[in-house]
Amino acid sequence: MAMKRLVSGMRTTGSLHLGHLEGTLKNWVKLQDKYECYFFAAVWHAFTDKFMENIPVLVKDMVTDWLSVGIDPKKAVIFRQSSMFEHAELSTILSNFTPLGWLERCPTFKDAVRDEDMRSGVSAGKLMYPVLMTSDIAVYNAEVVPVGKDQLPHLELSREIIRRFNSYCGQILKEPEASLSEVPLLLGIDNRKMSKSYNNSIELRETADNLKAKIQQMITDPQRVRRNDPGNPEVCTVFSYHKVYSPEKLEEICEGCKTAKIGCRDCKNMLFEKINNMLEPIRAKRGEIEANKGYVEDVIVSGEKIAHKVAGETMHEIRKAMGFI
Ligand code: TRP
Ligand code: SF4
Repeated sequence: MAMKRLVSGMRTTGSLHLGHLEGTLKNWVKLQDKYECYFFAAVWHAFTDKFMENIPVLVKDMVTDWLSVGIDPKKAVIFRQSSMFEHAELSTILSNFTPLGWLERCPTFKDAVRDEDMRSGVSAGKLMYPVLMTSDIAVYNAEVVPVGKDQLPHLELSREIIRRFNSYCGQILKEPEASLSEVPLLLGIDNRKMSKSYNNSIELRETADNLKAKIQQMITDPQRVRRNDPGNPEVCTVFSYHKVYSPEKLEEICEGCKTAKIGCRDCKNMLFEKINNMLEPIRAKRGEIEANKGYVEDVIVSGEKIAHKVAGETMHEIRKAMGFI
């Protein structure tokens, strides 16, 4: 039986951190075996937040990270949204099937308007975010879309836009299903949301020394001042990482912390070993990829050939249905 088609994108924010790995990429690696996967660098969506410099480098770093964690170009089609005029064409068409109110009520848009304090500071691109996202999906007629919880309202809008298009133009586009996986939430080393802009992330390309230094800086239980003070692991960032990386030792760590049997330094060293062991093969793979000059560019260019072929077929159908040809 043919595999169902799956599409997902990641905004180009530069090299990736552990939050991306645990929240998205490990899931993508598994999905590659179950679905016909299309993964792309969402350059235009990243633009709705800020203008970026050096986009080719941003994209190359991100795709290199994808490949080094096991995204496999033999299994998945990898490409740049910004090379795909078909997404933009479909977005132009679908914008006319999208009531303005739907977009204005979208929670991410409302947040943007509130943050800017003034509507005029928010671009039309931001308003159109869900329409572009719908096009990213529909242009491949994808049935499955893995997204984080924060993206569910967008996907729900995509389904509505597609339904509305189909009701006018015939059943051309498939309604995509969200695929949500249970993903652990990793906080930044300062216990806030992990984000490059807070400077609190652990990057996949961290050297062992930097990783060690960052784990040393992690916020622990602030009440545990001296080595002999008992701690409360539930308020400790280090412990929240152990939940993800040391499930087999969790009870021991919890006990040890509460009874002051283990010190924070030992606890952090254990975490360092775990994360470092996980990153080691990823570093090695990245080394191989980077030694192979032009490889990442080749992967992207071949991906775009396939993507153009599939997207082109959908657009041909849509242009016919719209009466353009
Ligand atoms: N908005 C998504 C995010 O920020 C990225 C994205 C863009 C996407 N287009 C998509 C995800 C299409 C899935 C399908 O995570
Ligand atoms: Fe956190 Fe570990 Fe220190 Fe307890 S022992 S406060 S869990 S770092």
